[in-house]
Amino acid sequence: MAALRSVGGIQVRYSPWYGNLQAVLVAAPTQVWMRDPEILMRAMAVGREMGYSRFLVQATGATQKQILLDAGFRELDRLHVLFRRCALALPKVPDSAKVGRLQRASPIHVDEVIRVDNACFEPFWAMNQLALSEAVAATPRSRFRVMTVGDSDVLAGYAIFGLGGGEGYLQRIAVDPDWQGRGFATRLIVDGLRWAKRWRARRVGVNTQQRNENALRLYLKLGFEQQTEGISIFEPAAP
Ligand SMILES: CC(C)(COP(=O)(O)OP(=O)(O)OC[C@H]1O[C@@H](n2cnc3c(N)ncnc32)[C@H](O)[C@@H]1OP(=O)(O)O)[C@@H](O)C(=O)NCCC(=O)NCCS
Repeated sequence: MAALRSVGGIQVRYSPWYGNLQAVLVAAPTQVWMRDPEILMRAMAVGREMGYSRFLVQATGATQKQILLDAGFRELDRLHVLFRRCALALPKVPDSAKVGRLQRASPIHVDEVIRVDNACFEPFWAMNQLALSEAVAATPRSRFRVMTVGDSDVLAGYAIFGLGGGEGYLQRIAVDPDWQGRGFATRLIVDGLRWAKRWRARRVGVNTQQRNENALRLYLKLGFEQQTEGISIFEPAAP
């Protein structure tokens, strides 16, 4: 679970990185670290006392990135940020996706969800059980659905949507490489978009790694719009 600590009177949030016990995303108020990035060094010292050994910081926009570079951080990865307005009509689901069964995720699906997730994401971004439960609990409301196929209920994919502050979020989606290209992701996303709309969300957001061209194509096709400013993940250049 994310933890809050006071560092020199400033509240800092420590969110374990995708369930990785060593790595943590450190978030101090943006205005504070932009004025004095030293707070991040102090926050990392506190994080070391908490047992973490790898520290990640998120930045948006050129100014924030430059401040982190000047403070001795290096850029590790870049994410696109996209939003889709809920007022748009829902996309059409291809017939090929109808062979799948869309159902509410239950504890019996967890191991398979982790298997599919790990087959789809490189280790740095892959989830373990802890990260999965954090993703589901990250927003006041969430929708966790799995797509199964065949008589033995093989897990072909899953999606987690969240809702908070009048906005929906596609927290995570993955389709087993053996089952990609059939419209399963489209069906999972349309289900989440319908849910967000029912809860009167204005829009639904998603982040994706800039080098993930398939995901970007999928989101653009479904009516998500790419924002001009993405998010970058930084870590100290020297550990
Ligand atoms: C991205 C991902 C979820 C797509 O799942 P999928 O079930 O194959 O997607 P769909 O069949 O619904 O594809 C819909 C559209 O997405 C795009 N797309 C998806 N996979 C693609 C690929 N391999 N090559 C090109 N375009 C692709 C296309 O626009 C496609 O429409 P089309 O079939 O008319 O060309 C799947 O590839 C995946 O799990 N990737 C790894 C995990 C991941 O990247 N998750 C999202 C990260 S935020």
